[in-house]
Amino acid sequence: MENVKLPDLSQGVSADRLANGQMLQGKVAEEDVLLVRQDDQFFAVGANCTHYHANLAEGSIVGDEVRCPLHHACFNLRTGMARCAPAFDAIPRWRVERVAETVFVREKLPALAQYPEAGSPKPPHSPSSVVIVGGGAAGLAAADMLRRKGYAGPLAMISADDSAPYDRPNVSKDYIQQPIPDEWMNLRLPDFYKEQGIDLILNSRVSSIDVRRKQLQLLDGKTREYDALLLATGADLIKLAIPGANDSDVFYVRTWSDARALFQKAGSAKRVAVVGASFIGLEVASALRSRGLEVHVVAPEAQPFERTLGAEVGGFFRALHESQGVNFHLSRTVSRRDGTLVTLSDGSEFHADFLVLGVGVRPALALAEAAGLKIDRGVLVNQYLETSVAGIYAAGDIARWPDPHTGQQIRVEHWVVAERQGQVAARNILGHQEPFDFVPFFWTAQFGITLKYVGHAERWDSVEIQGSLDAHDCAILYKQSGKTLAVATIGRDGQSLESEAALEASLRSSPRAVHD
Ligand SMILES: Cc1cc2nc3c(=O)[nH]c(=O)nc-3n(C[C@H](O)[C@H](O)[C@H](O)COP(=O)(O)OP(=O)(O)OC[C@H]3O[C@@H](n4cnc5c(N)ncnc54)[C@H](O)[C@@H]3O)c2cc1C
Ligand code: FES
Repeated sequence: MENVKLPDLSQGVSADRLANGQMLQGKVAEEDVLLVRQDDQFFAVGANCTHYHANLAEGSIVGDEVRCPLHHACFNLRTGMARCAPAFDAIPRWRVERVAETVFVREKLPALAQYPEAGSPKPPHSPSSVVIVGGGAAGLAAADMLRRKGYAGPLAMISADDSAPYDRPNVSKDYIQQPIPDEWMNLRLPDFYKEQGIDLILNSRVSSIDVRRKQLQLLDGKTREYDALLLATGADLIKLAIPGANDSDVFYVRTWSDARALFQKAGSAKRVAVVGASFIGLEVASALRSRGLEVHVVAPEAQPFERTLGAEVGGFFRALHESQGVNFHLSRTVSRRDGTLVTLSDGSEFHADFLVLGVGVRPALALAEAAGLKIDRGVLVNQYLETSVAGIYAAGDIARWPDPHTGQQIRVEHWVVAERQGQVAARNILGHQEPFDFVPFFWTAQFGITLKYVGHAERWDSVEIQGSLDAHDCAILYKQSGKTLAVATIGRDGQSLESEAALEASLRSSPRAVHD
């Protein structure tokens, strides 16, 4: 859009220029504005997503919302409110006036109140206190939504982390590749918690839940009562002992502190062994190779991502990494390390100054399990994200929920899913009966290539590739018995949004339930 002169929407646009469901990007007094026609009504909203400022003109219109092309945040066209994560803040709005067949965008409208949201009805239920265990994606999104929806009672978020909620996906990407300001990592500025009366308790681990007395025991000996409880404890790293390796040379990638330590180490090293060819492993490989390190990836599988994305996509990512100079040692594991010498299971060797272990995570279930909540490879929740104990909800990496799209109980480790579950759980804590029926979405970024994935396919019997992986312009459809379960895209953000909408539509004739 940079060299294209955008129309001045205040001068008027012919109504014919836009069909229903279409949008036009323009300017109003130097600001980027989207004019949208939907159901024969016109709306004017800001053109930049409040998450990472993507151009919403490249997104899509679904019902009364505009969706972002980058990470699929949704904004209400009437109010500008960020209806679903990963964006939390509203986009601005302008008054629109239609005079005969010309549509004029007039003055900018005052921003609507967000805490609580203007026009939000009184919550049907108001617990006497809410405690959230976990200060990650789901925890923060839930706390934010509770205040947005008018919950005014005591609200605490207890987190074992030493940092306030931050952008975890960056931990394996930009943050370890280049110096970036801390403000980019914080999901909310420090003042937010004070302003919203959220008691953010960091460096504090909940050790047990007394379900009968509705009381939490903290590791430091303190206790905390709750009326409603949200468990959002995420995942624990799987650790691996490498014979001969010093702890000081072994790095993991989960927290912001991990990222700080890794960023620093990479600044004084030349060679790294990345153990594990998962998303985290290969994102780290990409970031550190981009910093000029010699990178060796060691993993037991024959092809990266084969189980999650299929052999062809796995082969594509492997070739992408190899073209950038990453060395793969697949179908092998690390046997030992002596000094800088790394010896693999087949006897082959190379030198590395340090190791990064990305060998997977386990959902952090210990707390829920000890409290007697029903567990099945995750905390079992119903469609409202409530656990087997009334008043206790679970969201994010730990939750296994009945996914209406696959008809299965599923658990995923996706950032946007965790945030949206936190948001839905918050509304349900306040008495809304909102099923969690979002289509799962995740992305990964490596060497400037972003893959986006909508849906959920643990198994498939055919893969259809539309377009070209090599041209970085394709959609990969994962199908079972002819039904499309999931769609991955590279360079086709529009198709990713369309696929998401199609998966939603296949569930019901009306759009997804929304609670503004
Ligand atoms: C490095 C990295 C990169 C990622 N990149 C992507 C990506 O690009 N795209 C994508 O879709 N997904 C990505 N993910 C996955 C995504 O970050 C997770 O799915 C998401 O963070 C899960 O959110 P959550 O709230 O369930 O858990 P988390 O965000 O992990 O938060 C869990 C919180 O619970 C706290 N906690 C745990 N136990 C206790 C306890 N007993 N008491 C108190 N606090 C406790 C932790 O300290 C933490 O604050 C990435 C994950 C990692 C680690
Ligand atoms: S930039 Fe819009 S959702 Fe991330």
